[in-house]
Amino acid sequence: MAEAGGDAGSLGPGAAAAGECAELAAVIGATVPTGFEVMAAEEVQEKLGSASRISRDRGKIYFEVPARGLPQVHRLRSVDNLFVVVQEFKDYQFKETKEDALKDLEDLVKKLPWTDPLKIWELNNSLKKKKTKRKKHNPQSTAGKEKLNNDGEEKGADQKDAKKEEDSAQDTAGVEPADGQDTEKTPEVASQNEEEEEDNNEQSDAKDELQAGAGTETKAPDGRASDREAKVLKFRVTCNRAGDKHSFTSNEAARDFGGAVQEHFQWKADMTNFDVEVLLNIHNNEVVVGIALTEESLHRRNITHFGPTTLRSTLAYGMLRLCDPQPTDIIVDPMCGTGAIPIEGATEWPSCYHIAGDNNPQAVKRAANNICSLLKKNENKESTASPGIPLDIIQWDICNLPLRTGSVDIIVSDMPFGKRIGSKKKNWDLYPACLLEMGRICTPGTGRAVLLTQDKKCFAKALSRLGHIWRRAQTVWVNVGGLHAAVYLLRRTWERAEEKRSFW
Ligand SMILES: C[S@@+](CC[C@H](N)C(=O)[O-])C[C@H]1O[C@@H](n2cnc3c(N)ncnc32)[C@H](O)[C@@H]1O
Repeated sequence: MAEAGGDAGSLGPGAAAAGECAELAAVIGATVPTGFEVMAAEEVQEKLGSASRISRDRGKIYFEVPARGLPQVHRLRSVDNLFVVVQEFKDYQFKETKEDALKDLEDLVKKLPWTDPLKIWELNNSLKKKKTKRKKHNPQSTAGKEKLNNDGEEKGADQKDAKKEEDSAQDTAGVEPADGQDTEKTPEVASQNEEEEEDNNEQSDAKDELQAGAGTETKAPDGRASDREAKVLKFRVTCNRAGDKHSFTSNEAARDFGGAVQEHFQWKADMTNFDVEVLLNIHNNEVVVGIALTEESLHRRNITHFGPTTLRSTLAYGMLRLCDPQPTDIIVDPMCGTGAIPIEGATEWPSCYHIAGDNNPQAVKRAANNICSLLKKNENKESTASPGIPLDIIQWDICNLPLRTGSVDIIVSDMPFGKRIGSKKKNWDLYPACLLEMGRICTPGTGRAVLLTQDKKCFAKALSRLGHIWRRAQTVWVNVGGLHAAVYLLRRTWERAEEKRSFW
């Protein structure tokens, strides 16, 4: 194990110039929507040329990249949070008593190879600064300014909803960038799917998470840092722990590990306004120490107008990718809500044509506002050649779509789970009707559908009734806000769909 570089702690932001770090390689850890680890690994391979390792701890992947690849890492679409790995222990032997186990964690701090990961962290900061500087030149209007209608009240309600659903485990949300240069306030919150709220309430003895900064204020060391900006870094430690064999809680681990970090680097503990977030991830006997590279989850993109069940953009990306869109494909989300899926689709697959609809006028308005925000954002980007996006949004009923039979290549949708939207009882009628109408509009033989639901029993029953038009090709089990949901990839059979409707 490499010795910790004592000087790394006194580096001021920006001290590690890009050139200095160019040859460095970093092991990056990324949290991804559970169930989509393999797909995230495929994206990393495709876009960065790196092989990933999928962690035993579901929802994480690890891959190695040269430091110069950091900007591409931030452009990955399937990852939520990023961190640089300081060290990983695959089979860490925790001592039996709490005191001994915590003392070991404390002692670990000075043995860890911090120097290179801290250089990566600094380089990452300088990238973020560049980004915020660009933003300064192009101050984007916030969601409120771009609304189509005068619905300020509605927006307030959305944001309140979203805040309520904020996962307490999302440790960095709402924290201002360390350099304080950000002129545009990113939406602080993003509502998750309807089930996420339940996750927030879920308490488990075996899994907990706590942040801790410890000890008292300290001064920056002099000496070797003299030619650098003398700045005492502020830090916090976030501990994620899962497993039932630990004699300590995440709180205790974060507190003691944090105390040792403070002593080692002479940093100042600050729980809310920190520069460095040290991560201590403990999953049974696997321990990973890392430094966070994202201040908020990368799924917070695209959406400015939230609804009660807004889907994470990272999950939307995973669902779209699952059906392998090809140029000129027509992709439909017939129950689009705030538009997370079609907006992600139109952004990432611009050579397809995206159509989205919902029967709730409020949802259609939100989706339209989200599209407006995106158009505005694109207008402000110097690099964007075309300011338009290939996406239309319509109010309609899934049971009676104004689309020609066999005209759609792909359907991707997040169905009502019957909790916040609709009811389980209604799903017994809605699901078969959906599958039937989706089957009608989808091209026989080549059409496919990717559908997310937690109401698996109802879905399975509906699918068994419509087995002549839809064949299940794959099921991805996903954890949506603590609930066990499924993403089904269905393939359209060659069977002709019945033309049972009369239009007029
Ligand atoms: C789980 S939500 C979709 C959330 C969406 N993915 C988002 O990011 O906001 C399901 C949506 O289905 C819509 N819906 C329910 N019944 C419908 C129907 N008969 N026709 C069209 N949309 C319907 C609801 O209004 C709701 O917006």
